[in-house]
Amino acid sequence: IGSAVGLGSIWRFAYVCYENGGGAYLIPYFVALVTAGVPLMILEYGIGHKMRGSAPMSFVKINPRWEWLGWWMVIFVMFGIVMYYAVVIAWCVCYLWFSVSLAWGPDPNTFFFQQFLATTAGPHVIGDIRSPILLALVMVWAACWVIVFFGVEKGIERANKIFMPLLIGLILLLVAWNFTLPGAMDGVRRFLQPDFTKLMSPKVWVDAYSQIFFTLSLGFGIMIAYASYLPRKADINRDAWITSLVDTAVSLVAGLAIFGTLGYMASVTGKPFEQVVTHGIGLAFVAYPQAISVLPHFQQLFGILFFLTLTVAGIASAISILEAFSAAVMDKFHYPRKAVVTVLSIAGFLGGIIFATGGGLAWLDIVDHFLSHYGLFIACILQCILVGWLYGAKHLREHVDGLSTLKIGRLLDVSVKYVIPAALAYLL
Ligand code: PHE
Repeated sequence: IGSAVGLGSIWRFAYVCYENGGGAYLIPYFVALVTAGVPLMILEYGIGHKMRGSAPMSFVKINPRWEWLGWWMVIFVMFGIVMYYAVVIAWCVCYLWFSVSLAWGPDPNTFFFQQFLATTAGPHVIGDIRSPILLALVMVWAACWVIVFFGVEKGIERANKIFMPLLIGLILLLVAWNFTLPGAMDGVRRFLQPDFTKLMSPKVWVDAYSQIFFTLSLGFGIMIAYASYLPRKADINRDAWITSLVDTAVSLVAGLAIFGTLGYMASVTGKPFEQVVTHGIGLAFVAYPQAISVLPHFQQLFGILFFLTLTVAGIASAISILEAFSAAVMDKFHYPRKAVVTVLSIAGFLGGIIFATGGGLAWLDIVDHFLSHYGLFIACILQCILVGWLYGAKHLREHVDGLSTLKIGRLLDVSVKYVIPAALAYLL
C-alpha cells in the first residue's frame, strides 16, 4: 500500500477521472483493475514470494536467459521514474513551506511556472538550478536514504506503519473539512457525474489501463521485491485485493477532497467550474493553492495538510523504488545494504538535479513519456510472456491459490496470457 498510494493515486487519478467522463470513468477503471491490475499484482506477488528474490533474481530462477528483464525494470524505475518523482515530492515540500505564508499570492499560476519553476523556453534551455527545489530534493533523498538504510523491518515497515495511518487520517480530515464548505458538493457532483458517451472513446480505456499500472506500481519489480519478504504462509490473493482496493479507495476519497475544494472555489469566485480545473500538474500546484487562498479561515493549515499528504504518500512510494533496485544489487553482488543504499541515494539525487532546473518540467515530460511507454509497457508485456507462457500461468496459479482463501482460478491465466499483453500492445 505504501508503494501503490502515491502522487499518482492522489492527484493524477482525480484529474484523469474528471477528464474521462467522471463517474462513468469508474467503469473502465474497475474493468482495468479486475482484468489487469489485480492479476498482475498477484503475478508479481506470487513470483516474488515463490522465488524469494528481487526481480532479476526471480526471473533467473524461471529462466537464466531472462535476467536482463528484471534489470530493465529496476533500472528504468531507479534511473528514470524516481529521479523525477523525487523532484515532484520536492515541489510538495516547498509548497508545504509556502503554505505557511500563502507565498503563491494572488496569481498561483504565474507563481508556479515563472517564479517557482522559472520554466525556460524548452528542454534545450536548461536555465538555472532552482535552489529551493534543490534543497527540498536533498531532504527528500535524505528521508528515503535513512528509511531504506535501516532495512526492511526496521526501516521500510516501520516507516509505512507510521505513514499509512497518517496518510489516511490526513485525507479523511481533508474530506471532512471539505464537506463543511459551501459549493463543495457541487464540485463532487461535477467530479462524479457520469458522462457515458465518453465510454465509446478508446482514449478513456487507454487512460484507465495506464492509470492502473502506474498507480499500483506494477511492472517495475517493486511488488516482486516487497513480496519476497513475506512469510512463507501469506495470503497472496487477499493481499493483492487489499492493496488494489485500498489504493482505489484513497484515490476516490482524495478526489472528493480535491473536487470539493474546487467546487467551493467556483462558488466563491462565481467562475464556471470548467475554468477552475486545470490540467495535470496545475491541479495540485495551481488550482489547489488558488482554492486555499479563498478559504474563509485556517488557510495555512489547509495547505499544510494537503501538501503534507502528498509528501508522505510520495516518500512511501519512493522508498519502494529505492528498495527494488537495492534488493536487486544486493541479491546479485552481495554488497552490504548500507553501502548500496547510500550510493544509490546519492546517484538518485544527482540524477534528479536536471529536473530541478528551469528546463526541468520539459525534461520531466519527456522522460515520463518515454519511460511509461517504452519502459513500463514493454516490460509488462515481456513479464507476462515470461511468466504466463514460459513459466506457465498454471504453475503460478497453483502457487497463489494454494496459499489463498480467495481463489483467482483461470482468470489469472486468461489475464496474464492474453488480456494484459493485448491491452498493453494496444496502448503502445
Ligand atoms: N504508485 C505510485 C503512485 O501512484 C507511483 C509509483 C510508480 C511508485 C512506480 C513506484 C513505482 O504515485
